[in-house]
Amino acid sequence: MSDKPLIEICDLEKRFATPGGEIKVLQQINLKIVAGERVAVVGTSGAGKTTLMHILGGLDQPSGGEILFEGENLFCLRGAALDNFRNRTVGFVFQFNQLLPEFTALENVMMPLLIGGVARAEALQTAGKLLEEVGLGQRLTHKPGALSGGEQQRVAIARALVRGPRLLLADEPTGNLDSGTSDEIMSLLNRMHRKHGLTMIIVTHNRTLAASLDRILQIEDGRLADDILN
Ligand SMILES: Nc1ncnc2c1ncn2[C@@H]1O[C@H](COP(=O)(O)OP(=O)(O)O)[C@@H](O)[C@H]1O
Ligand SMILES: [Mg+2]
Repeated sequence: MSDKPLIEICDLEKRFATPGGEIKVLQQINLKIVAGERVAVVGTSGAGKTTLMHILGGLDQPSGGEILFEGENLFCLRGAALDNFRNRTVGFVFQFNQLLPEFTALENVMMPLLIGGVARAEALQTAGKLLEEVGLGQRLTHKPGALSGGEQQRVAIARALVRGPRLLLADEPTGNLDSGTSDEIMSLLNRMHRKHGLTMIIVTHNRTLAASLDRILQIEDGRLADDILN
């Protein structure tokens, strides 16, 4: 782990306009995350965790403040540079895996490569290798509906990692899984962290998962309540 911040969040704020008036969902978030750190984000439902993850992944814009990624303001990125950040620099794992149901595990994992212009043969090889790595070498041609919840989440993790991102964002990756399967996903994420030297930010309600990471951030009503170093 280096101590150079990979991400610096300064006075981040997010408001949403709703029919009932404007609501503040995130306020006064200040935070530094160094390269290689594994950060858990915890907090009650509605606290603003998903909103924060979407902003960190460049999927949503803040209403105020800034996020520096390696010193560069994320929200000054436009066009190809923003696409590159979303598609290559960051990998996203969602709670409801969001796999494409009509495609096989292999095709789902190949998709980001094909979209990125990688040749089919190379995409096939890279995706196959990664699926092996997450323990699904025997499930390449299964469609998501024929996979268990844990297996689907493994495919989603492989898909998030296939372009070699520097940052992995996972929003309640074990939220839908039983405790045994959650433990498997947790050790997979930690193994991927070691192997690929990732920085990981994981939203979770799973205390064991949170405790296995380097640091726990608690969000309460859109504010950072606590920063616990494990
Ligand atoms: N697009 C939106 N428009 C209006 N309100 C939203 C929107 N997205 C989220 N919110 C509100 O922001 C708050 C935080 O949501 P979220 O970040 O999803 O919380 P968490 O992931 O911690 O459960 C909630 O009150 C939610 O209703
Ligand atoms: Mg959420």
